[in-house]
Amino acid sequence: MDDFLRARRERIAGALKLRDELLLVGAGSPLPLPENSDQTYPFFAHAEYAYLAGNECIGGIVAFDPKAPVDGRWVNFVPEVTEDERIWEGRQPTEGRFRSEFPNWLALRRGRPVAMLGCPEPGISFDEGLRARVRNALTHARRGKDGHELALLGRASAATATGFAAAAEAIRPGATERQVQIELETGFFRGGADRTGFSTIVGAGPHSSVLHFSPTSRIIAQGDFVLIDAGAQVGRYTADVTRTYVAGGAPSPFQRDLHGAVLSAQRQAIARCRSGREWKDIHLACAVDLTEGLISMGILRGKAQSLVEQEAHALFFPHGLGHMVGLGVRDASGLQPGRKPDPRPSLRTLRMDLPLEQHYVVTVEPGLYFIPPLLDDPRRRTRFADCVDWARVDQFKHVGGVRIEDDVLVTAGDPEVLTAGIPKEV
Ligand code: GLY
Ligand code: MN
Ligand code: MN
Repeated sequence: MDDFLRARRERIAGALKLRDELLLVGAGSPLPLPENSDQTYPFFAHAEYAYLAGNECIGGIVAFDPKAPVDGRWVNFVPEVTEDERIWEGRQPTEGRFRSEFPNWLALRRGRPVAMLGCPEPGISFDEGLRARVRNALTHARRGKDGHELALLGRASAATATGFAAAAEAIRPGATERQVQIELETGFFRGGADRTGFSTIVGAGPHSSVLHFSPTSRIIAQGDFVLIDAGAQVGRYTADVTRTYVAGGAPSPFQRDLHGAVLSAQRQAIARCRSGREWKDIHLACAVDLTEGLISMGILRGKAQSLVEQEAHALFFPHGLGHMVGLGVRDASGLQPGRKPDPRPSLRTLRMDLPLEQHYVVTVEPGLYFIPPLLDDPRRRTRFADCVDWARVDQFKHVGGVRIEDDVLVTAGDPEVLTAGIPKEV
């Protein structure tokens, strides 16, 4: 077993504090396509399994018995590779004991409580309350990234930078969103990616205001905003980066101001990513910074702090500041153990509520958008009649939006931007 995995398992065993309880973590199995062919959706082992097994073996189970002798506490059970799998997929055996031995392993421990994480295995009964408690503890313990994970994130960030460099070259009036996606993803693979970390987002012109827009054959026009949100994945670890460009390279004064407001707010938010700082405070401070930008652009009227308390900022910044990233694009976001969701409406879009700690990797991704479904809503127009210059909003309603996103490592000192190699000025 690799040293990093041995150390990781030891650390997790200490964090879970199991005594008599058994921990089982299932990788899961591929889902067949509904039309009953021999095809499946792409297989991703459950993140909890990938983390504790160090592989993505289909049908694998990691089993942990806290009472076993130290060198036998963790066991990998893996299915035997069939002849068909060798012939059709070239599948190779994964290190571990055969799955056929697992029922006996479990029978020898009959009567002990079972926490089943990852993908549940049919036929294994487990305790739901225990499962929730152990899952929360594991999620929290996974938040700080170890050296092996940071190395993979470094490679994912480098591959992502290669892709964004290629995409930036491809953005010009007359190209399509799809062409930009092709150059971007080709760059990811040339830069060492195993796959994309999530479905690539490319939105040009008004499409840039759709938060997760799938690229189309729309032709990019001179002066369009082009928003790209994408990430390369290496060994299950993904980067998650957004840049917003202006096609043809000559932003209008309004575009320059909008982009500048987001960029300045993003830089300030990154600087606040320090150990001990509450994520929701960083989010709210960023909302105030973005609101200042909108006030100076004549879109909002009033005092920024008060506008954020009234939630006026959410007309233009309707999502949270970011999330944890690494083993998957959302990774171990959520609540600090013992916390309940914060009832403040302006915080309901946050993907996490916790204080940052050293070794956490978070995305910082503020944005300002002109989103017609929000801005055309008569109830919002009435509610915010005084603090929004609606005539000015209507003038710019089709400009789209700007988001800028980097992946930030919290350290003992200054935050480290893992994706700093990707230019973000227009
Ligand atoms: N890539 C989706 C997100 O930024 O969260
Ligand atoms: Mn993103
Ligand atoms: Mn993100």
